[in-house]
Amino acid sequence: MILSEQHKKFRQEMRRFALAEIAPDAERIDREQVFPYEHIPKLNKKGLLGMVVPKEYGGFYTNTLDYAIAVEEISRVCGSTGITVAAHNSLITYPIYAFGNEEQKRKYLPPICSGGELGSFGLTEPGAGSDAAGTKTTAVKRGDKWILNGTKCFITNASVGTTFVITAVTDKSKGAKGITAFILRKGTPGFSVGKKENKMGLRGSDTAFLHFDDVEIPDSDRLGPEGAGFKEFMITLDGGRISIGALALGLGQGALDSALEFAKTYEENGKPLISRQYIQFKLADISMQIEAARNFVYEAALAKDTGEKFTRLSAMAKLYASEAAHSAAYWGMQILGDYGYTERYPMERIYRDIKLCEIGEGTSEIQRLVISRELIRGTS
Ligand code: CAA
Repeated sequence: MILSEQHKKFRQEMRRFALAEIAPDAERIDREQVFPYEHIPKLNKKGLLGMVVPKEYGGFYTNTLDYAIAVEEISRVCGSTGITVAAHNSLITYPIYAFGNEEQKRKYLPPICSGGELGSFGLTEPGAGSDAAGTKTTAVKRGDKWILNGTKCFITNASVGTTFVITAVTDKSKGAKGITAFILRKGTPGFSVGKKENKMGLRGSDTAFLHFDDVEIPDSDRLGPEGAGFKEFMITLDGGRISIGALALGLGQGALDSALEFAKTYEENGKPLISRQYIQFKLADISMQIEAARNFVYEAALAKDTGEKFTRLSAMAKLYASEAAHSAAYWGMQILGDYGYTERYPMERIYRDIKLCEIGEGTSEIQRLVISRELIRGTS
């Protein structure tokens, strides 16, 4: 897709920012498995924590394509920071903006869009991952409060977040239509966060369990109508999947950057690796797949801004980009050979980071299910 001059300029700005401010810490963040705290004030200063929310609520929304480009360029140098930004924007600021009432938006959005605070989204539970409607967490109404009990797992930004949106069953007899969403603040009595998961990839990103033990939530912190939570979270994931597509795209581009650089500089028998045609052809294939992924992600981003239903396009963007990126890392690693298998080059980190893109915010199998359902229904 040919970008407009404005988007090209924005991409250059993001590339400069990512190389100067994010890239230098990427290897250490992964090796030490530490959350990229030092990146948060820089991201906040750049307006990158409020990219899907307009100015009036403290955000910096311009358009979804800019947002995708930002996630792509950050992920190109550091997947852990890329997913932190993607989850924060798509999964917490967006649902509060889209489904919150005026009071909730004014109260909860400014601190997380421009105040440097992070947020987190709780849907997945032990026993309710792909089957998101199988939620077991309950919220029982008592007067003007809800009493929340249950557990959420594999939650991004869990221990670094201050504001959470979570789902709970409020009427078991109604299935998916008996699930309601709530806003919850860190520090609420009975709400605790488990220890950070020790993950294969995206090791700087913060992932942990959330536990609710008789947590009291005022009815004023209910997000949207009773029973609308599942639908709200599905709509949220439609947008989130564009950003996971952008995360995958950035990681895949990073794999291509690394393979190209290696092939140009590494010599065997006095000749650079790139002089071999089979290496050139492999790089051509990787580049073609990454470009196709970029088209998918950007098209889904453009579709979101038109106000049309983009469920199918965002699932396709995430699915295609994550599989293309996986292939880029696989073949990139083959080009680097033994060198790629060591920590001397970013390829092994990228290889590990990419796997999450085929799992998080709906596995590749769930994306195929979403695409085929939409195709059959003819709804998007
Ligand atoms: N937009 C609007 N409405 C939607 C929708 C969408 N994209 N998807 C579903 N709905 C609506 C349906 O229309 C239906 O409502 P009506 O009856 O009024 O039409 C209602 O929601 C129930 O939908 P389904 O019958 O399709 O629900 P289902 O139980 O069959 O599940 C599913 C559908 C697509 C498999 C869903 O369970 C799903 O997406 N699963 C994957 C969950 C997922 O991606 N989890 C990742 C969480 S992200 C995360 O954990 C990361 C982190 O960092 C926290």
